Amino acid sequence: MLDNFESISPTAIVISYPRTFTDIPYEKEIYQWLQQNGKNNNIKLNKLLAPEIEARYKLTNKILDDLNIKQIVEIASGYSSRGILYAEKGYEYIEMDLEEVAKNKVKLLKEIASIPNNLHITIGNALNYADFEKCDEFLDKNKEIAIINEGLLRYLTFEEKEIVAKNIYQILKKHNGVWITCDVTPKKFIEKQNVCLPDFNNNVNEVTSRNDLQDRFEDIEHIKSFMMKIGFNNIEIHRFIEMREQLKSFEILGVAKEEYDELLQNGIVAIIKI
Ligand SMILES: C[S@@+](CC[C@H](N)C(=O)[O-])C[C@H]1O[C@@H](n2cnc3c(N)ncnc32)[C@H](O)[C@@H]1O
Repeated sequence: MLDNFESISPTAIVISYPRTFTDIPYEKEIYQWLQQNGKNNNIKLNKLLAPEIEARYKLTNKILDDLNIKQIVEIASGYSSRGILYAEKGYEYIEMDLEEVAKNKVKLLKEIASIPNNLHITIGNALNYADFEKCDEFLDKNKEIAIINEGLLRYLTFEEKEIVAKNIYQILKKHNGVWITCDVTPKKFIEKQNVCLPDFNNNVNEVTSRNDLQDRFEDIEHIKSFMMKIGFNNIEIHRFIEMREQLKSFEILGVAKEEYDELLQNGIVAIIKI
């Protein structure tokens, strides 16, 4: 069961590419580095994903800014620019990903920028609690933390999701704070995605075998009951559509906002607390 997570890693490139069709700093440089260093061989890319990826990225940032929590652990951080951007704003920021991605991230950030002392890129498996404990050395025990993740749980079975959620619960029990994630997006979103972007999920299936609709939450009630079983008591849901007017990708791609409304209505970011 606990195996084969590396097959998920190329999806980090699938997500990095559409962010180049936004105004998010560093994203073009990051993707260019991946391309120049041969990391994207034969992966099918789809720029029409940009509005939903931009929405989840910006909604997560907005929630984080509103909460004003300045210690972050982002798991499965991939090639996202959030870590470097928030570290540059003075946040204590820990990124965790599997070995190859974490090593590439260090290399690429050294080339396109410099890594501030308050950005820590660690190698870790979200299913391994000991890897979360390694983050402790960078955290101030007297301050709250935010755990963030965008795009990992969808590739895990419910048994595996439960292990990750329990690890996050344990960390939040110790430090206090919140878990912010778009990674619980229910089936309806994927069904809509299959209509808007007919090839996308087929292409992801070619990248990783871990992309099964049966591993998705049914609806918000399902998310809540799953989280409550772990011990979380407070789940607040935000919708991607909240960011509609802040999305630059519509204009960059030359697509009509209205075409994405239903998709953005079904995409969610949850704020989860004990
Ligand atoms: C779809 S990508 C998302 C990357 C990033 N969050 C983003 O939005 O661009 C999924 C990421 O999960 C990472 N990953 C897969 N299994 C993992 C695990 N067990 N623990 C930590 N990270 C994992 C992959 O290496 C990859 O970077």
